Amino acid sequence: MSTEKEIKRVTTKTLALMKKKGVKISSLTAYDYMTAKILDEAGIDVILVGDSLANVFQGNDTTLPVTMDEMIYHTKAVAKGISRAMLVVDLPFMSYQLSIDEGFRNAGRIMKETSAGAVKLEGGIRVADTIKKITDAGIPVMGHIGLTPQSIYQFGSYRERGKTEEEAEEIFRDAKAVEEAGAFSIVLEKIPASLAKKITSELKIPTIGIGAGVHCDGQILVSPDMLGLYVDFRPRFVRHYAELNKEISEAVKKYIEDVKETKFPSKEESY
Ligand code: KIV
Repeated sequence: MSTEKEIKRVTTKTLALMKKKGVKISSLTAYDYMTAKILDEAGIDVILVGDSLANVFQGNDTTLPVTMDEMIYHTKAVAKGISRAMLVVDLPFMSYQLSIDEGFRNAGRIMKETSAGAVKLEGGIRVADTIKKITDAGIPVMGHIGLTPQSIYQFGSYRERGKTEEEAEEIFRDAKAVEEAGAFSIVLEKIPASLAKKITSELKIPTIGIGAGVHCDGQILVSPDMLGLYVDFRPRFVRHYAELNKEISEAVKKYIEDVKETKFPSKEESY
């Protein structure tokens, strides 16, 4: 039974309609219940449990170490904080590279064990058959091309992709292959704005950019980056909407001072 208060969930259809109407899609990452609840209540459209979890939450240099079990553990917590946003989960490194069936099984595991609405995986033409197999089973897939951090050792650096004509053409072909394989949306990471613009106008599915300029159908950022919580690495494409690292540090220093000087707890804070 529907009530007046019922919140309409963002789905793949909502995102397709947003592209059609020219309404931009907002997306951020989350790895825990508290953050997911704040993002959802603020009105974010898509929440991604990204494998950036490996960097910002676990403190690794790359996204490679995070496991399926860890992604599922964090997704379960994030899901509890969401009422409206679409929840997308990254398939971590080596959960789909081994074989199409392995990727299919792991996508199914995420959908069965969490309340996710979709999975995301990196790559273009080379993962198109995997995307097809997963989407044929009714699991929505978000693609991810351009700079794909799971291939960092192949690329050798986190530099921008698609600067040469050859690389740009390859990325364009990848985008087409991901769409043809059945993906409902695609992340374009760290590519020239002009290339992202071309892909966005050629594809029917929404493009979500990160370091890909303003012409994408939507934008995504890693929450601890844009909140100024994770400061080990600050790429140029991240706008800092807050400096929470400083605020937290100030709060903790004040707390330490109060404890040392017996200013905390007060009478009112005691029983
Ligand atoms: O893992 C992640 O957070 C991502 C985004 C950067 C798109 O894939």
